[in-house]
Amino acid sequence: MPESQSAAPEEISRERLAELLNIDLSREYQAIIAYVVYSQVLSGAESMDIAAQLEIHAKQELEHALTISRQVDYLGKMPAASPKPVRTSSDPKEMLRYDLENENDTVRNYRDRIRQCEALGEYAMAEQLSRCGPGARSAQVEYGNYDYHTHLHSAAPVAVRAAVMCYP
Ligand SMILES: [Fe+2]
Repeated sequence: MPESQSAAPEEISRERLAELLNIDLSREYQAIIAYVVYSQVLSGAESMDIAAQLEIHAKQELEHALTISRQVDYLGKMPAASPKPVRTSSDPKEMLRYDLENENDTVRNYRDRIRQCEALGEYAMAEQLSRCGPGARSAQVEYGNYDYHTHLHSAAPVAVRAAVMCYP
């Protein structure tokens, strides 16, 4: 069968799942820090709306971090204490690109993680993790869809509009 995702689920131990969740947790810490910083870099008068959105994301990422840390604890491991490195730039276009890349990465990882939880029969955990996806997905949508596009057109500085134009 060619490259079907419905192939037999990969073998995974609870130990390995906890390790992977700790990487996810580091990614959530990274997101908290990134949104705190990015919301301020984008705080010029013209991008107040975007900055406000990013501040909301910062708080959502904290909720995600707490959710993931509970799953790690449930699996009997110590939750990770360090963020993945945060990339910053004084160029809003660059920064939004970093953000989008991170969010895409997050969505991909949670998709895998949910499958892995299900393979272990951890359906409640899969359900918890699925709640961490929407924030990431909403950022993907914001940077990719028409609404955010038009929103940025009316409110954003040229550099940010240019950044969004790069995203199909
Ligand atoms: Fe998150």
